[in-house]
Amino acid sequence: MSNLSELQTLQHPLFEQYQLHVQIKRDDLIDPIISGNKWRKLKYNLKHVKENGYKGIISFGGAYSNHIHALAFACKQHDLLAIGVIRGEAHFAENFTLSKAKQWGMALKFVDRITYRKRDTVEYLQQLSQQYPGYFIVPEGGSNTLALKGVAEICHELNQQTHYDTLLTPVGSAGTLSGLIAGDNNQHKILGIAVLKQTDYLANEVRALLNDKVDRLFNNWQILNDYHDGGYAKFSPESLKKLQDFSAITGVPFEPIYSGKMILALLDLITINYFPPRHKIVLLHTGGLQGLGGLIEQKKLKASEWPLPLAQQAQ
Ligand SMILES: Cc1ncc(COP(=O)(O)O)c(C=O)c1O
Repeated sequence: MSNLSELQTLQHPLFEQYQLHVQIKRDDLIDPIISGNKWRKLKYNLKHVKENGYKGIISFGGAYSNHIHALAFACKQHDLLAIGVIRGEAHFAENFTLSKAKQWGMALKFVDRITYRKRDTVEYLQQLSQQYPGYFIVPEGGSNTLALKGVAEICHELNQQTHYDTLLTPVGSAGTLSGLIAGDNNQHKILGIAVLKQTDYLANEVRALLNDKVDRLFNNWQILNDYHDGGYAKFSPESLKKLQDFSAITGVPFEPIYSGKMILALLDLITINYFPPRHKIVLLHTGGLQGLGGLIEQKKLKASEWPLPLAQQAQ
């Protein structure tokens, strides 16, 4: 993609009431399958893999991982082999997300939780390299140094598209936030909304990804840890209703695991006067709408109330 991803201005009564200007960077529209931050994070990983003659990529994820879904498709597109190390049991291979990854040619290797916890240790990674020579290993969520370079391009695009004060993003493994901090280079406030519980460690993930330079070089970022709504992929009926209403008013689809938690945080922050009047906010839509399919399959959402985008149905 050489064009910039679309930036849309959102209308909402709350924004009017609090005199806020809110825009959304629709990275979810970049590609129907490799959508949002996945596209950004994989861009330079794929380039590196091709340029260095690797035969494929190994990466890690849960049974409904957006990253695994996008990676499988990207590898197919680039004629690369793909191995997904998946936390969980083999029957997950038939679920909404992994059945597609498998169909696109990814080999799925299911491991128990204890093994999965070793995914970043030197010994485990060496073992994988020996077992699968010629594969490049990408960490969970795709968050490595190459990913940051791709994410940083969002900031360069935004600088051409608009003027703003604060950029909001959901935070899982912190690769996206770290890339934004690096790309923004202290021009704006970068606010990360943690989607998991007990995430005090995330600030250190950012420090690790930015080589510990982050505190010396960048002072414009913060992670809010209290908007997880009970934990990863958890949400209350009230939150779902708020999110549906927000989508109906703005016309933008969200899912409640990542981008939805950012929206719920935004709405709360507005009502506690976190943003002064005339503040200009940009929301990063990180994609992940395929995740709705998994939530519907697990009966956490009703298909009639959470329509899957056409691109996700057609795969
Ligand atoms: C749709 C979506 N949004 C946001 C995130 C969080 O990004 P990161 O893991 O880089 O913090 C993820 C997970 O990677 C995701 O799948």
